[in-house]
Amino acid sequence: MTKPFLKWVGGKQQLLNQYDQLFPKTFDSYFEPFIGGGAVFFHLQQKGITGNIRLSDSNEELINAYRVVRGHIDELIAMLKFHQENHSKGYYYRIRELDRLPIKLNHIERAARTLYLNKTCYNGLYRVNSKGQFNSPMGSYKNPNIANESVLRQASEALQDAFLMSGDFSGVLNWAMRGDFVYFDPPYDPISDTANYTGYTANGFDDKDQFRLWVLFRDLTNRGCYCMLSNADTELVRDTYKHFRIETVQARRAVNSKAGKRGPINEVVILNYDN
Ligand SMILES: C[S@@+](CC[C@H](N)C(=O)[O-])C[C@H]1O[C@@H](n2cnc3c(N)ncnc32)[C@H](O)[C@@H]1O
Repeated sequence: MTKPFLKWVGGKQQLLNQYDQLFPKTFDSYFEPFIGGGAVFFHLQQKGITGNIRLSDSNEELINAYRVVRGHIDELIAMLKFHQENHSKGYYYRIRELDRLPIKLNHIERAARTLYLNKTCYNGLYRVNSKGQFNSPMGSYKNPNIANESVLRQASEALQDAFLMSGDFSGVLNWAMRGDFVYFDPPYDPISDTANYTGYTANGFDDKDQFRLWVLFRDLTNRGCYCMLSNADTELVRDTYKHFRIETVQARRAVNSKAGKRGPINEVVILNYDN
């Protein structure tokens, strides 16, 4: 089974069973403009995508990691094995601070750093400060699997034909055509001001971005694209998309330090098609 090679907050692995009933039966090209850990893409790729594949995200380090997994898998695995052998608290913080120092890593070293930090940091939480510097503390994993060779090689295989771009989600508008499928998994509309996590990028994701996304969803609908969008079950989301089909799914809550608040939570999936 092809799986995400990164832990990603909001990862959709746990929802794939419920999503299977919601994907369009057939489509041409596939677009995923908030790729994150890529759970939905890897799942669909395994079932077979026949058209072009365009994956993007505004997180440049993330897209760099995808490109390196696609094109330089052997060098990447060798570097990850080195990180694995040297892993310790001191080593973690030395590697973490590399984006604060005036030295340049090459793209393979950068990807290895991102994957190493992702597998060893607290909760796999990719968090950057306002300068875009990685600032998650170290997690307390006993034996983190830093160089998971089989997962990485399968992901590399699955990515061979994918176009990978970093940038804002609105770029989809330049490429998607009638009959294509666009799956959106944006940072969620916050259930309360503090409840949700939008720190994946230095810019965050606010109401204006949610609104821009709705405009794009509508434009792609007019163009004849199949669109599917995951979001939190909030009044704002339900009201914004009230003219579209809205399905409810049940998710496990991921980011909550209080164990008592980790029970299932409703999320919505917005669709502009029947299937
Ligand atoms: C909820 S996560 C996606 C999770 C993914 N579906 C998975 O299964 O792992 C949201 C993603 O949106 C990206 N993002 C935030 N703002 C963005 C923007 N304006 N344009 C494109 N991507 C953005 C973040 O970097 C993050 O990877």
